[in-house]
Amino acid sequence: MTVVHPNLEVTDAKIRARDVSVFYGAKKAIDEVSIDIPSKYVTAFIGPSGCGKSTFLRALNRMNDTIPSARVEGTIELDGEDIYTSGMDVVQLRARVGMVFQKPNPFPKTIYENIAYGPRIHGLAEGKAELDAIVERSLKRAGLWNEVKDRLTDSGTALSGGQQQRLCIARAIAVDPEVILMDEPCSALDPIATAKIEELIDELRGNYAIVIVTHSMQQAARVSQRTAFFHLGNMVEYGRTSDIFTNPLEERTKDYITGRYG
Ligand SMILES: Nc1ncnc2c1ncn2[C@@H]1O[C@H](COP(=O)(O)OP(=O)(O)OP(=O)(O)O)[C@@H](O)[C@H]1O
Ligand SMILES: [Mg+2]
Repeated sequence: MTVVHPNLEVTDAKIRARDVSVFYGAKKAIDEVSIDIPSKYVTAFIGPSGCGKSTFLRALNRMNDTIPSARVEGTIELDGEDIYTSGMDVVQLRARVGMVFQKPNPFPKTIYENIAYGPRIHGLAEGKAELDAIVERSLKRAGLWNEVKDRLTDSGTALSGGQQQRLCIARAIAVDPEVILMDEPCSALDPIATAKIEELIDELRGNYAIVIVTHSMQQAARVSQRTAFFHLGNMVEYGRTSDIFTNPLEERTKDYITGRYG
């Protein structure tokens, strides 16, 4: 059972998960998690290693489909539509619910192509000029344009780690997502690159529902407005970030945020 903070105001759920369990073979990694994730907020998933944060995050855009042993029970709705029905177009779903990973993973293609690829396969641009405009807009929104505008034909992998991660965010943005899932997006970055990504997340949040998994309490406190604490496959507590950090209701949450176990 999850303790939901009483003064968590009711907002429309962009994503509504109900009694979601995720199994790897016979092992249950997520145990009946229910949560409403709103638009225009950053929701942080925190909790000790192995508690199921990435597993649950991946369930939100059916990324677990790529793991043969993984099985999902319960329902997850995006704008009220069940994403696990057999009729769901998973490629389309993953454009609507984009993902940014721990390790920046640009395609081994040019910077331009990294961004243009998605809009092209999703038919979002009518011609070259429109595609160019999407590439420029996406790179600008990701705070990368000024650094790369004169080298769009260089390989994406030739950028620094922090730039690569902003390129991956630009790539996710380029297909007009509604939700952006980020799994420890800064853990491979230095403090300056991390600060840039955190700033970017804050700028972006007005337009998307953003979910970020992080091991850094400071980061969760800085960038998120909602925090969910996971422990051993359970979502123990969910509330406004300020409430979770200043007034945790559950002993396990208190222990975790005060660093008593990690
Ligand atoms: N592909 C997989 N096959 C089998 N078991 C897995 C797989 N991925 C994760 N697990 C198991 O599921 C549980 C939850 O793992 P998960 O990666 O979701 O945790 P996490 O909270 O993201 O941890 P971390 O903070 O270390 O990234 C763990 O026990 C893990 O060993
Ligand atoms: Mg993880």
